[in-house]
Amino acid sequence: MTPNVRPLVAGNWKMNGLREQLGEIRAIAGGLDDALLSRIDVLLCPPTTLLYVATALAEDTPLAIGAQNCSEHVSGAFTGEISAEMIADCMGTHCIVGHSERRTLYGENDAIVRDKTKAITNTGLSAIVCIGETEAERKAGKTLDILGSQLAGSLPESARASNTVIAYEPVWAIGTGLTPSVTDITEAHAFIRQTLRQRFADEGDGMRILYGGSVKPGNAGELMAIANVDGALVGGASLKALDFLAICEAYRVL
Ligand code: PGA
Repeated sequence: MTPNVRPLVAGNWKMNGLREQLGEIRAIAGGLDDALLSRIDVLLCPPTTLLYVATALAEDTPLAIGAQNCSEHVSGAFTGEISAEMIADCMGTHCIVGHSERRTLYGENDAIVRDKTKAITNTGLSAIVCIGETEAERKAGKTLDILGSQLAGSLPESARASNTVIAYEPVWAIGTGLTPSVTDITEAHAFIRQTLRQRFADEGDGMRILYGGSVKPGNAGELMAIANVDGALVGGASLKALDFLAICEAYRVL
C-alpha cells in the first residue's frame, strides 16, 4: 500500500464472457459493501461486446466498468477497432493498455502504448498501463531495466495520478499460478514508484501501482500488503464473482 493512495482492484476478463455470464457482474456489483468501498475502488473490464450492458447493470452501483484495449486513433477508417470515445459513450471509465498479451501477440510496442494512453486520457478516461518483464529477462537480471524503459516509452508527458494507473505484471506470472517473491515485488514496485516520482514529481507519488499475475483469494492479502502495491489487476480469478470479491475482501483487514 502507499500512504494516501486509494487502492484499486481491477478484473480483466480477457476474451472470456458471454451474456450468460452477466450474472457474475451483477453479483460483483451487489457484493461490495460500504465498509469495503470506503477503502478501495473496484473495476471490471469485460470484453467489449458486454461493455454497454455491463455499465447499464453497474449503473447506480460502485462498480466501475472499463475496456481492455482501444485504438490510438480518434475515429475513421480503422476496421475492427474501437476508440476511447466509444468506450466513454458506453459509459466505461477505464481502459487497460499495453497488456503483455497485446504487446507479444499483437506487436504493440511502447510507442503504440503511449499513443493509446494519450487517446484514453485525452478522452477523460483512466488508462491502466501494463508493464512487466519476461522470464528470460528476469533470469538475465534485466527486470528493472525493462521496467524503466517500458515506463519511459509507454507513458505520455500528460500522465497524471488522476488518469493513469500502472500495472506491474511479470509476463511469466500471468495465468501460470506463479508469483514473484515478496522481496522481488517490493523491489519492482519501489523502483516503479521512484521512476514515476522522478518524472512526474507529486503526480508520480499519487499514481496507483497495481500488481498483476496469478492474484488469487489465497495470496491477495500477502500481495496487497506490500509497500507501493496499490491494488491488483486480476485475470482468471475475476471471472467468478466469489473469487473476485474474496480478493477485494483482503482490503477489509489491511
Ligand atoms: P491472471 O492474469 O490473474 O490470470 O494471472 C492477470 C492479467 O493478465 O491481467
